[in-house]
Amino acid sequence: MTKDTESTAFLDMTRERWSVRRFAPEQIREEHMRRILEAGRNAPSACNYQPQRVLVLQSDEAIAAVRSITHWAFNAPTVLLVCANLAESWKNADGADSAEVDAAIALDHMMMEAWECGVGSTWVRGFDERVVRRAFNIPSTWKIVAMMPMGYPADSAKPSNWHFRRKSIEELCQVL
Ligand SMILES: Cc1cc2nc3c(=O)[nH]c(=O)nc-3n(C[C@H](O)[C@H](O)[C@H](O)COP(=O)(O)O)c2cc1C
Repeated sequence: MTKDTESTAFLDMTRERWSVRRFAPEQIREEHMRRILEAGRNAPSACNYQPQRVLVLQSDEAIAAVRSITHWAFNAPTVLLVCANLAESWKNADGADSAEVDAAIALDHMMMEAWECGVGSTWVRGFDERVVRRAFNIPSTWKIVAMMPMGYPADSAKPSNWHFRRKSIEELCQVL
């Protein structure tokens, strides 16, 4: 835990980060990719079962395939396809399966570390899960959680209007 309790570096990043939807053509540098994947690895998961599974789509073939499936892949040079292995996730006695939550936390960690590396990204669920499953041979025991197109932002990239619309803390939270 940081000893600098005055630091707002992370809070500032949560405020400043926005969904990047237009990318420069250059591929993400290896050291940045390693840091991003490491952040996903460091994410907490229920009972530490770590069910997240990440496909890093970068080959010409994989990128062409993902772009043919969804226009939300934009022109990103890399697309993460994040899944949750239902055979390795924690299930509560009430039947709740933590798989998707665990994978989402890992993806959020990766999104924030990407921003720290100067790599932009957008969380994407605008695709047909059945089509993605067929295209990338995703096992039936894996839930497909999200895609994350990513890369260095194009000079012309800018936040959408949605980025600036945040509900107030009072609308979102109650102190009981
Ligand atoms: C679960 C989820 C699904 C999303 N799906 C899409 C999507 O399919 N296409 C897209 O352009 N953005 C998608 N987004 C991004 C949101 O539109 C974006 O985060 C929101 O409008 C706030 O903007 P900001 O991220 O720039 O602050 C998704 C975000 C989440 C968390």
